[in-house]
Amino acid sequence: MADVTDRCGQSPLKEPAYLNDKQQLVLVCQLPSIISTVSNSNPSQPRLQRCVSSSNLGWELCPHHSIHMPSSIPPRHLNTRLIQSHLFRIPKTCCQHRFCATNTQPTQAPSTRPTMSLSISKNPAPWRKLLESHLEQTKSYDFTIATVGYDSKGNPVPRVRTCGFRGFFPELELHPSGQEDMDQQVEGGGNPGLFESDILTFTTDVRMEKLDQLESTGNYIEAMFWLKEVMVQWRIKGKAYSIGSPDPESGSEFGLRPELFEALRVKENYRGGSSGDANKWTWEKAITKYFANHSPVMRGSFRNPPPGQPRSQLPSNADLRLGQKVTNLQDPIARENFRVVLILPEEVESLDLTDLDDVRRRKWTLGPDGKWEEIEIWP
Ligand SMILES: Cc1cc2nc3c(=O)[nH]c(=O)nc-3n(C[C@H](O)[C@H](O)[C@H](O)COP(=O)(O)O)c2cc1C
Repeated sequence: MADVTDRCGQSPLKEPAYLNDKQQLVLVCQLPSIISTVSNSNPSQPRLQRCVSSSNLGWELCPHHSIHMPSSIPPRHLNTRLIQSHLFRIPKTCCQHRFCATNTQPTQAPSTRPTMSLSISKNPAPWRKLLESHLEQTKSYDFTIATVGYDSKGNPVPRVRTCGFRGFFPELELHPSGQEDMDQQVEGGGNPGLFESDILTFTTDVRMEKLDQLESTGNYIEAMFWLKEVMVQWRIKGKAYSIGSPDPESGSEFGLRPELFEALRVKENYRGGSSGDANKWTWEKAITKYFANHSPVMRGSFRNPPPGQPRSQLPSNADLRLGQKVTNLQDPIARENFRVVLILPEEVESLDLTDLDDVRRRKWTLGPDGKWEEIEIWP
């Protein structure tokens, strides 16, 4: 724990923080409702900078800028990613300062992110093939995503929206033009296709609200498909994590990828090639493939003005406009905002309405031993 003084130099605040193995500051939570901060050297994309342990005077905040976190978010739910997402909303400024806090006190804290003990099963989930076969008979791959948010009084409230299902991580069949972009712009045309998992995916813009909501409520999520063609509803409850930050060594992605990697298994029928294929696999290529899976105009949507902000408020950054087409898979602005969300299922339920005289409802639950248990329940 390190002392943090707020912008006005008032009450010293206790700020949980630790240094990662690169001696970079990682802020964890419990920030005040007003924190001081600054834009970085690229004012169009301000973000929380990292700092390095130096002398021993405590944490000092830059007096030049402040950011107001919504008071609806209880302080205990504030964390680095939430703060980062709000920093993105700071308008372009003349500020050239780099970081708000200087660590002047060596932090006695863990050198790695605390493990999150994700609920993971290496074995193929028993519901997976059935869900896949239902999806294959379906026209639309959209599903409903529910998270928990907070209303203006700080009460937890449900939030739902439609998102496009992007298959099970990291498998993705690209449109020929997307594959062409991968072939031209990514080493080897992408990853060898040796891994599969039971992780469901969708993509999103980091500036939208759902990621903040996930982070501030323990990453709990529910995804729901109503597959009318087969008359079956699927509900997937679990936890979700986003990947794709240009700086995965800080913020919410810090330390996450190795843990997620545990959920990947080599495909049973993988006929790829050399044993070295696993070494050629990278997270960066996997994420880029999801970006390539969008048409140029959809990729351009990640350069839209800030989602959810009043349309009357023109973005000060002229690069943020509607209707742009992006062909560069590494477009810095679009990729700053683009994220792949991974849903790790913990409980899956199907409700089969094919025969209304005999409606069938099945539930699969992932146990702490990583094994799925199935039970048929009354509808
Ligand atoms: C058919 C359809 C597909 C959509 N697909 C996505 C998607 O894949 N990812 C996404 O973030 N939003 C998608 N949206 C927009 C969301 O429904 C929602 O408006 C947006 O994500 C902002 O939500 P939030 O602020 O609660 O995060 C889609 C909307 C529709 C109608």
